[in-house]
Amino acid sequence: MKNVILIGFMGVGKGSVAREVVKHSEYIAIDTDDIIESMENRKIKKIFQEDGEEYFRSIENKIAHWLKNSIQNTLISTGGGFYKQKGLKDIGLVVLLDSPFDDIIKRIKKHPNAVRKLKKRPLLNDLKLANKLYDERRPEYLEVADIVIDVTNKSAYDCAKELLKKVKKHV
Ligand code: S3P
Repeated sequence: MKNVILIGFMGVGKGSVAREVVKHSEYIAIDTDDIIESMENRKIKKIFQEDGEEYFRSIENKIAHWLKNSIQNTLISTGGGFYKQKGLKDIGLVVLLDSPFDDIIKRIKKHPNAVRKLKKRPLLNDLKLANKLYDERRPEYLEVADIVIDVTNKSAYDCAKELLKKVKKHV
């Protein structure tokens, strides 16, 4: 089993899909944002507020090196900007969860914790800017991805099943 790296825009459902993959396979999952919060003992929002985005990206970089050197057989769910790390493919098979911007926002707003979900993501605070960021990133996501899963209007379970099927074919 090779590492699988889940990438995609904020709110696309990386965490939900990762949890379904874990339920239905041998994979153990970790999440780069969770690792950062535990290393720093503070929330992502606080890290952005207190030390800025550049500092946050430097921790992502440290984690990318650690993943490459030390982690195997694992599903790695990542923050929406982690895909920019160099040598992503050396860490594992890159799987993009893809959906149009409006559908991602609709998905977040449907959630019972919608306000918290929006607030905890500094780069989603201004939806106009977030849409611009999405437009900039989408071609880059597609370029780095080995596998693309369109998650629009699909359950996390269906996405997980599709992921496992496609990963199996790929390895
Ligand atoms: C970010 C996405 C967030 C988190 C940070 C920056 C980004 O993770 O890493 O707020 O640059 O897209 P999610 O994709 O899990 O929201």
